[in-house]
Amino acid sequence: MAHVDARGAAVVAVTPTGGVALAASNGLPADFAARLGDVDAFDPELEERVIAALGTADTQARTFPLVSGGDLFGTLIVILGADQELDEEAHALLEGLADLGGTALAQAALEAELTRSRRELRASRDLLERTQKLRALGEMAAGISHDLKNILNPLSLHLQFLKRAISKEEVDAQQSIADMQLVLRRGLETIERLRAFSRQAPAGNQDLVDLDQLAAEAIEICKPRLRMKHDTHVTVVARRGDPPLVRLRASDGVAALVNLIVNAIDALGVKGGTIEVTTGAVEGGACLHVSDDGPGMPADVEARVFEPFFTTKGEEGTGLGLAMVYAFVQRSSGRLSLETSPGHGARFTLWFPSAKRP
Ligand SMILES: Nc1ncnc2c1ncn2[C@@H]1O[C@H](COP(=O)(O)OP(=O)(O)OP(=O)(O)O)[C@@H](O)[C@H]1O
Ligand SMILES: [Mg+2]
Repeated sequence: MAHVDARGAAVVAVTPTGGVALAASNGLPADFAARLGDVDAFDPELEERVIAALGTADTQARTFPLVSGGDLFGTLIVILGADQELDEEAHALLEGLADLGGTALAQAALEAELTRSRRELRASRDLLERTQKLRALGEMAAGISHDLKNILNPLSLHLQFLKRAISKEEVDAQQSIADMQLVLRRGLETIERLRAFSRQAPAGNQDLVDLDQLAAEAIEICKPRLRMKHDTHVTVVARRGDPPLVRLRASDGVAALVNLIVNAIDALGVKGGTIEVTTGAVEGGACLHVSDDGPGMPADVEARVFEPFFTTKGEEGTGLGLAMVYAFVQRSSGRLSLETSPGHGARFTLWFPSAKRP
C-alpha cells in the first residue's frame, strides 16, 4: 500500500467449496466483509461493488486477478483516491504481487489437497490393518475352537455313559455329573462363539431381531455381575425407542451387548454410576447406544479400543471384548462408533440397517 500510495487493500479468495471469502484486508472499515456480502471473484463489476461497499465517493477500486496455472484463486483489490493514477512501475508492482499471491494460493490449495489425501490414506491403512489383524485372529480362533471341540465332545459322551452306569440312588454323584454337563455345555457354547468370531463373512442364519428385546436379554445376563459389585452403586437403565426390526444373529448380538455393558460396569468401578442402554430409529435403520457416566477414555486409548488384545486391565482383561463387538457389527452390515472424553463417560453406538420385508 505504501509503495503505490493506496488507501486500502483486500484479497478475496476462492474457497475450496467454490465460494468466495474475504481473506485479508488492510485500511478498510472493520465491517467491510459484511458490507461487501457475497461476492464473485469473476464479477466484471467487482470494482463498482467494492466502492459501493466502502460508501465513499472520492475513491476508486482496482482489481488484479490472482491466477496460477490457468486457475483463478482470488482477486487483489486496491483502493485508490478518486483521481489517483497508477504509474507504470506501480502497475507492474501490483501485477507482480498478484502473481505471487496466485502462486501462494495455488500452493496452499495443493498442500490442503495433499494433507487430505494423506489423511484418507492413513484411514484406509488403519482399516486394512485392523481387518488383517481380525482375520489373523479369526484363523487362530477357528483352529483352536476346532481342536477344543474335538477334545470336549468325547468328554460329553463319557459323561453320558457315567450317568447311565451310576445308580439313580447315588444322588450326589448324579448331581455332580449334571453340573459337569452344564459346565461342558457352556464351554462348548463359548467355543461356538469363538467359531462365530472367525467367520468374518455375513453369517448365514440371521434372525429378525427387536433390539429392545436384545437389550433386555443382555441386561438380564449382566445382573449377577452387578450383584458381584454390590458394594458399589451401578444402575442399568433401558430406554426403549421403538427401533425397526433388524437382521442379525441374536446370540452374537446379546454377546456384543453384554461385552459393552460389562466394560461399562468395569469402568464405573468402585465409584459407581449409571449405564443407559437406549434404542432408537435413525437413517433407515435401528440404533443402540450403551453409555456410562464413568471416567471415559483419553484419546490414545480411544484410538485403540477396537484392536484385538488391546486392554488397560492388565491380567484381568484379554482385550477381545470390543474386537468381538467390532467384528459382529461388521458381519451384520452395521456401523459402530464411540464418543468419549476423559471425565465424560463413554457412549458406544451400534447401527444396523432395518430388515427389508420380503
Ligand atoms: N465404557 C468404557 N469406559 C472406559 N473405558 C473403556 C470402556 N469400554 C472399554 N474401555 C477401554 O477399552 C479397553 C478394551 O476393551 P475390551 O472390552 O476390548 O477389552 P477388556 O475389557 O480390557 O478385556 P475383555 O473384554 O477381553 O475381558 C478396556 O481395557 C478399557 O480400557
Ligand atoms: Mg471388555
